[in-house]
Amino acid sequence: MLQKSPILQSTVKSLPFNWYFKETHFKKELKKIWSNEWVYACHENNIKKPLSYITLQIGQFNIIILREKGGQIRSYINTCNHRGSTLCKETEGTLKTALITCPYHQWSYNSTDGKLIKTSSFITPKNFDKSKLSLKKVNFKIWNGLIFINLSEKQTKWNLKSQFQDYDSIISKIQFEKFEVGHVWKKNINCNWKIFWENYSECLHCPNIHPELSDLVPIYSRRLMDIKEDPNWEEKIGHDDPKFSGGLRKGSETWSLNGSAQGKVIKELKNKKNFQGHIYITNWPSMFLAIFVDHVRVVRVLPIDHENTQVTAEWLFEKSTYDDKKYDKKNVIDFAIKVMLQDGEACELNQKGIYNPGISAGVLMPEEYEVKRFQDWVTKKIR
Ligand code: FES
Ligand SMILES: [Fe+2]
Repeated sequence: MLQKSPILQSTVKSLPFNWYFKETHFKKELKKIWSNEWVYACHENNIKKPLSYITLQIGQFNIIILREKGGQIRSYINTCNHRGSTLCKETEGTLKTALITCPYHQWSYNSTDGKLIKTSSFITPKNFDKSKLSLKKVNFKIWNGLIFINLSEKQTKWNLKSQFQDYDSIISKIQFEKFEVGHVWKKNINCNWKIFWENYSECLHCPNIHPELSDLVPIYSRRLMDIKEDPNWEEKIGHDDPKFSGGLRKGSETWSLNGSAQGKVIKELKNKKNFQGHIYITNWPSMFLAIFVDHVRVVRVLPIDHENTQVTAEWLFEKSTYDDKKYDKKNVIDFAIKVMLQDGEACELNQKGIYNPGISAGVLMPEEYEVKRFQDWVTKKIR
């Protein structure tokens, strides 16, 4: 049976503008969303070497994710038990020894189990119990090479299918864990984190914000993300022109500057039916996977505060592609950065406009059904 078009049948009100700049509202989201959901940290190979680490900032929270000397992943709250100083100051780095040493008064902790090893006081008081002062562990899950953390005290269970809002079995088939991280790119965007996701969720902005991308994916030039948004989409199946049937422009294979995938095809995509050149899989609130024929891009979204968001992209390549000196990674990396910068600018433009008096919310148009789905998700979570 043919699916119905997902577009909205009537105009609906969007979320109140003050949800995007009120600090008290952001605090509520930190508590109800960011402290409960699984949040993406990085690909395992980003901290490949023993003692390498990253830190994650989620609002005022800060978390360490490291590979201990034996090669296992560990995660701790980035707080010293002495008087609360931050332990690891950098966003990424390598510990000099197997100890995590506080930069303030030099208490040190074993990075493998978080145990307090030594303080800097010359006297140890009688009632001082070292064993009660270990680093606070953070619950984490490594799924297919991708590390997620969870700050909830409830020991939230990992559920793959509900985790990814648009679960597609292809993500269980592709062995991301065997992929190499070819590049990491970070950008702080002056917008609330929800503005990032809303922009991600529609293509009404595509032709004017992304001219190059709309040329590569012709249906985007019609402001549509997917063929099914067209009310008469059944008639367009198998249409000769990708402007109507979706997919990449003729002769192009991947999202890259020249459209070429340089002869690379991810093993598991070789026989994938109806693959139109890209699969996007969303994981609110913190990441999406973009799967292309020759590479995968993982984009992480973290709120710095109520009006600032950090976006991080990791480009994953099959080992053989990563090792191939003839394969020019910049072809895909630079194209995606161009698109992400365009989106970043649009998000900042959006954020700047919402403070003015006299207007307190926007409206969603039919094509913004994904924005509505996201807004409904947020609303439900913060209740
Ligand atoms: S706060 Fe860490 S040693 Fe004092
Ligand atoms: Fe965009």
